[in-house]
Amino acid sequence: MCGIVGYIGHREAYPIILKGLKRLEYRGYDSAGIAIYDGNDIKLSKTKGKVADLEERLEKEISTNGTLGIGHTRWATHGVPNDVNSHPHYSNSGDLVIIHNGIIENYESLKKELIKRGYTFKSDTDTEVLVNLIEDVKKKENIKLGKAVQIALNQVVGAYAIAVFDKNKPNEIVVARLGSPLAIGVGKDEFFIASDASPFIEYTKNAIYLEDEEMAIVRRHKGVKIRKIKDDSLVAPYIQELQLNLEQIEKGGYDHFMLKEIYEQPRAILDTFRGRLLSNEGIIKMAGVEDNMKKFLNANRIVVVACGTSWHAGLVSEYIFENLARIPVEVEYASEFRYRNPVINENDVVIAISQSGETADTLAAIKLAKSKGAFVFGVCNVVGSSIARETHAGAYTHAGPEIGVASTKAFTTQITVLTLIALRLARAKGTLSSSDYRHHLIELELIPDKVKIALESDAYVKTIADIYKNAKNFLYLGRGYNFPVALEGALKLKEISYIHAEGYPAAEMKHGPIALIDENMPIVVIATKKGHYEKVVSNIQEIKSRSGKIIGIVTAGDEQVKNLADHVIEVPETIECLTPLLTTIPLQLLSYHIALMLGRNVDQPRNLAKAVTVE
Ligand code: AGP
Ligand code: GLU
Repeated sequence: MCGIVGYIGHREAYPIILKGLKRLEYRGYDSAGIAIYDGNDIKLSKTKGKVADLEERLEKEISTNGTLGIGHTRWATHGVPNDVNSHPHYSNSGDLVIIHNGIIENYESLKKELIKRGYTFKSDTDTEVLVNLIEDVKKKENIKLGKAVQIALNQVVGAYAIAVFDKNKPNEIVVARLGSPLAIGVGKDEFFIASDASPFIEYTKNAIYLEDEEMAIVRRHKGVKIRKIKDDSLVAPYIQELQLNLEQIEKGGYDHFMLKEIYEQPRAILDTFRGRLLSNEGIIKMAGVEDNMKKFLNANRIVVVACGTSWHAGLVSEYIFENLARIPVEVEYASEFRYRNPVINENDVVIAISQSGETADTLAAIKLAKSKGAFVFGVCNVVGSSIARETHAGAYTHAGPEIGVASTKAFTTQITVLTLIALRLARAKGTLSSSDYRHHLIELELIPDKVKIALESDAYVKTIADIYKNAKNFLYLGRGYNFPVALEGALKLKEISYIHAEGYPAAEMKHGPIALIDENMPIVVIATKKGHYEKVVSNIQEIKSRSGKIIGIVTAGDEQVKNLADHVIEVPETIECLTPLLTTIPLQLLSYHIALMLGRNVDQPRNLAKAVTVE
């Protein structure tokens, strides 16, 4: 996956593309590159590393004047991250230049054919094969770039969002998408191309989102012409007005996006409630659920498909749906589900959870479930994302853009949406009495303020981070609703601090991981008052007798765990099913502070990318 940006219009393209790439770096940061048409020729500069490295090099290397250009920030799939494999890539003649997000799966056979026809390759990328395929088609058939792109893409198996231009036709950029996102910003006599709207939001709020298997020719003075790649039919452009604003995507005074996003959670959860949780009237209103109530009520079971943190939110929802609405739930890794011929049919409701709405495995799982007749409901954050569009119905989390690679507010807002759905279904099924139902709504409404209180532990969590920052391993334990929170806490620590961490159901510890415990092992135990409290206290005793260091996440005012643990972090009291929304907060802060103290790149940890659009 990667970020792509393009500009054609009356302004200087370079600053727009450079700033756009910085905003898209969350999608990948192995290398960066820019190609500008300067009125005569293409000026291209690219380098391994971040956009900042490119900026330093580029201004010394090339003149940056020109009103047409494309840029790329890469997350390598084919070929190591080095200068040569960086995008943009030229065709052999040097006439065409391309940027690409995705994978050309049949690139090897295409490459062999092209080599036979005399083409040579500098890089190991699949992308360089594609640009030469386009050139080959164009020359053979003596046709325009747009047509050549279309014919070439019909020979390609894989996923792509591309932008390509021809230096002999410097008044157009040809773009296309299949499986990777591509938005076109429509300004006054100028057009922007990007993987999402953040690079152009300050110039225009009007955007066209290309659908899969569509391509567009973006012409300097003439506008955008969209066609279906397969059958060449024309598609009328649908221009939508974006609600996003720039402040939402900038750091807002915090040192890191991750910290900003952790602190945004009270607001983000409130936004998730907005218009849905009407506690005065005692109702929950969610259009996607209301419109499909029969499907939910008649379902034999709910199958949740997701990856990573979203999968953890799915695990929390298993407890919530089963306890509140008495609907059986299975939670599946999308990457496993898609390849194992699952037993699934029209009596199942599949819930796909994804922050980005672009995760390739989740998207494939959705397509599989649909092909087997299941009703698929999406829980996404990014509006207009591929998953939001591929599902039959859905509910957005409305957390606002999440830029830090480590998911934080996405997780808590996903749990919030899933809780709202479960409560709505519980009401419809009568599995909760009306007084219990009302009580749940009231408690839910108090959560944003309680998250604020949980955030007050920040300074104390920082002192704990300082004590344990050099530990080699961490164990996270929880039970019931808080078992998935233990998994999530461990994932957060792993991904941004690179410390090995494991999450376990507290009672499983004695079946293996207990062997790891000694005086050097910090163990984070979620031991809130509600839910198996006494049992978790026994687990803490077991750790204590083996000299493990205990960091307890406890309900405010707890005395028992305080007497046993080395440290306790308090969170406010709430009803059991809502505890994950509070216990998660100190775990996010702990991983943030440890990573920072170890000098890690918190927002862009190594080897990762924000949206995993390859399988
Ligand atoms: C979370 O911190 C991770 N970076 C990752 O596990 C993420 O949750 C996963 O890739 C799924 O992404 P999605 O929610 O955008 O589908
Ligand atoms: N497959 C291409 C490469 O490895 C593009 C990867 C991406 O989406 O960044 O260069």
